[in-house]
Amino acid sequence: MTAMSWTELALECARFARPRLRLSPEESPLAVILGSGLGGFADQLAGARALPFSELPGFPPATVKGHKGRLVYGQLGQTPVLALQGRLHGYEGHDAATVAFPARVLGTLGARALLVTNAAGAINPTFAPGDLMRIADHINATAQNPLVGPGEETLGPRFPDLSRAYDLRLAAALEEAAKQLGQTLRAGVYIQVNGPSYETPAEVRMAQTLGADAVGMSTVPEVIAAAQMGLPVCGISCITNLAAGISQHPLTHEEVVEVARQAEGKFSDLLRAFLPRAFAAVPPRKPLA
Ligand code: HPA
Repeated sequence: MTAMSWTELALECARFARPRLRLSPEESPLAVILGSGLGGFADQLAGARALPFSELPGFPPATVKGHKGRLVYGQLGQTPVLALQGRLHGYEGHDAATVAFPARVLGTLGARALLVTNAAGAINPTFAPGDLMRIADHINATAQNPLVGPGEETLGPRFPDLSRAYDLRLAAALEEAAKQLGQTLRAGVYIQVNGPSYETPAEVRMAQTLGADAVGMSTVPEVIAAAQMGLPVCGISCITNLAAGISQHPLTHEEVVEVARQAEGKFSDLLRAFLPRAFAAVPPRKPLA
C-alpha cells in the first residue's frame, strides 16, 4: 500500500507540474498520450515546456533503459496541448493503477479530453501495416483494473460506466479530420493483452472471435481512469503489423517501432487536423489542482 492515496498523489503531482509547465488553471488543454514510435508529435508544440517523468511526484522510476518519458505542455496553433511523450506499461512490472496514474494527473490538471494513441497488431484481416484505426471500443483482456483498491471518490464514482468510454463527439471530430485530409481511417475494437510476449496464432483467433480488430499492450488502464473522471476519450491505433498467425513471419519489436515511425507523418497530420476540432467539440473541465 502506498501511504498516500492515488488522489493525493495526483494532486501533489499536478501542484508540482502546473507552475513549471506554466499552465494556468483557466486553461483546459487537450491531453494526448503518445505511444510507441509516435512521441515525436510533442516536438511540434510551440513554446513547449517539459518535465521528465523522473521528476514528477508519484511517477515510478524508469525501468527500461533509454525509456524517454516526459510531460510536455505547449501550443498547436491556438490549441493548448498537454502531452505525455511515452507511457508506463504493465509489462514493465507496474500494476494497472500505476499505469493509469499519468492519466489521472492529466485529468487533475483540468484536461478537457484525452486522446490515447498506441501501436497495435491487426487482427482484422482487411487492415494493413501503416493504417490508422479509430478505437471505437475496447476489450480488457488483462484481468486487471486500475480502479481496484480504495475508492477514489474525489476523482469519480466507484463503479464507472464504460458504455461510452470513447466519446462520440470526439469520434466525429476525428472522422472529419481524416476526411478533410483524404486519409483512410479504420475503426475497430482494440483488445489489450498484458504482453510482453506477442500472441500465439490461437490467441489471435480467439480475439477475432471475441470481436477485436487490433491487439496491443497498453491504453486500457488510462481509458478506464479517464472514464472514472468523466474525461471524454478518443483513441487512435497505428497498425504496425499483422498479428501473429495472420502475419507469415515472426514479429519483432523493431518492426513495430519502425512502422510506427514511418506512419508518424500521417499520424501527425491527423493530429494537427483533429486537435483543434476536438478542442471545440467538448467543453472545458475544471482542474482539481
Ligand atoms: N500484439 C501486441 N501488441 C502489439 C502488436 C501485436 O501484434 N503490435 C504492436 N503492439
